Amino acid sequence: MEKNLEDSSARSQGPSEQESPGRPSATVTPTQPGSVALSFAPGRARYDQVAYNFTPSQGATSTSGTSYYRSKRKGGAWSRDPDKDDGKTDITATTDASFYSYHSSRDLAAFVREMDGRMFNNQNELYMLPSDNQEFQRLQKQHYAFVLSEGGLTPCQHIVESILRPSDEGEPRSVLDLGCGSGIWAIEMAKEYPNASIVALDLAPAPIDLENIPPNCRFEIDDVNLGLSHYHGNSRFDIIHTRCIGSGINNYANMMRDVEACLKPGGLVIFIDGDMRMYEEDGVTPVPVGEEDENGVEIGEGSWLHRIAREVRYAAIYRGSDVPGLEDCIDLGLFGHPLIEPSSIRAASLYTPIGPWPESPYASEQQQLRYAGALMRQDLIQLSRAWHPILKVSGIDQATLDRWSERVDKELLTGKFKMLWHWRTTWGRRKLEDPDGQPIDTTPEDTIQTYDLPDEAPRAYNFFRMFTTAQEAAAFRELRTEKAKHLPLPLVVKMYEEAQSTV
Ligand SMILES: C[S@@+](CC[C@H](N)C(=O)[O-])C[C@H]1O[C@@H](n2cnc3c(N)ncnc32)[C@H](O)[C@@H]1O
Repeated sequence: MEKNLEDSSARSQGPSEQESPGRPSATVTPTQPGSVALSFAPGRARYDQVAYNFTPSQGATSTSGTSYYRSKRKGGAWSRDPDKDDGKTDITATTDASFYSYHSSRDLAAFVREMDGRMFNNQNELYMLPSDNQEFQRLQKQHYAFVLSEGGLTPCQHIVESILRPSDEGEPRSVLDLGCGSGIWAIEMAKEYPNASIVALDLAPAPIDLENIPPNCRFEIDDVNLGLSHYHGNSRFDIIHTRCIGSGINNYANMMRDVEACLKPGGLVIFIDGDMRMYEEDGVTPVPVGEEDENGVEIGEGSWLHRIAREVRYAAIYRGSDVPGLEDCIDLGLFGHPLIEPSSIRAASLYTPIGPWPESPYASEQQQLRYAGALMRQDLIQLSRAWHPILKVSGIDQATLDRWSERVDKELLTGKFKMLWHWRTTWGRRKLEDPDGQPIDTTPEDTIQTYDLPDEAPRAYNFFRMFTTAQEAAAFRELRTEKAKHLPLPLVVKMYEEAQSTV
């Protein structure tokens, strides 16, 4: 059973017409704060989000947008409902800077739904982490842990720099962030590169606040699984970033090909996603998984964070998320992707400590690592509970989940394990389509950068490995897979198999 679920999904050359319906890129730009406007296309539409949170200065404002309903077609299109559409939907601003500032239940229902006191996106049934303030706060912490371990906003910032800060006055630059979550990456990119325009897209509204949004940053609400062909033509991007969206994707290989077609010639794509295994300091040996008997009494000394994460991985696969495809595609890198220039491709494993445990002979490095570790610890204490809904719908009861999460808190707060969180990443640049064109200036420094340290302090941070060939990337993946073979069968899998055998 486990073998099948670990298997990679079939790679494909690109999304079919059906999966990627064409549509014009015309956009109705809303002018009112607080409104959400639709750009029409046959069969499907995209929302432009202007505001979502409201600052006190906007508190008295009442705004209007256009009302929409969701078609009954599963996973389906959005379109205007001629019966319900009065051309106006009030979204009344409040001084409370929270999601619940929407007062129109119809609008709220269009984007999110409530489950067990948390809000979830309403467009995509695969993605089962919340879309609410608590989750956005978690994502902010995770973002800063990324910045500390990547040494910037991306793992290949020197390439980003060379694209977004060209020495000559050239074409305007554009960046797309797929699955932007809280929007923090997009906003920081917009501030860092004021001459680039940034589009941030997600299934649910991001907590954006007009007073803090740079003018070069725009938000859209859309589902990547429905295809990106509206970006294949004249609206292509210089940089596309996708970080941690894998559990909401139904075919990762198709999604990658679709994204790559949205790049301008020479444009850079970066894919990053997490590993649901927890590793020891060597980055390849999995930490033991927490286990208990039928009465809930702990057996052995395993990690409960690892246990919950492992259960979630399988629960997501049973729901239809292409987790094996994501693992395969990113681990093995963009090597062999027809649109990507081979010399520009890198795959890498990046590790963030969980908890402030790292030691370094260099005080500044130790401080930064420990800071990243402390952020990850807070992030994961919250994440262990944000994962409850997907495990509950997979059949694990709340009392069990609470017990597991309490053990997660304890193990993280006492620093029981020196654990690493593993991020897999790959990047590359689109080939120049003109065969006589200049070769792409690929990565000059052949290392992932780490954070800036004073010159006198050499780096001890070695929690990353980078691969320049498909073979190296595959060998490292194989090593990790081999070492994880003994991990116990998750409860979710046992329950699924039992249910199947009684059918
Ligand atoms: C774990 S969060 C990561 C957010 C952000 N990329 C970051 O790293 O801070 C994943 C985000 O991807 C979005 N997402 C997942 N599947 C998606 C899809 N099919 N289309 C658009 N967004 C998606 C989710 O709504 C969520 O906001």
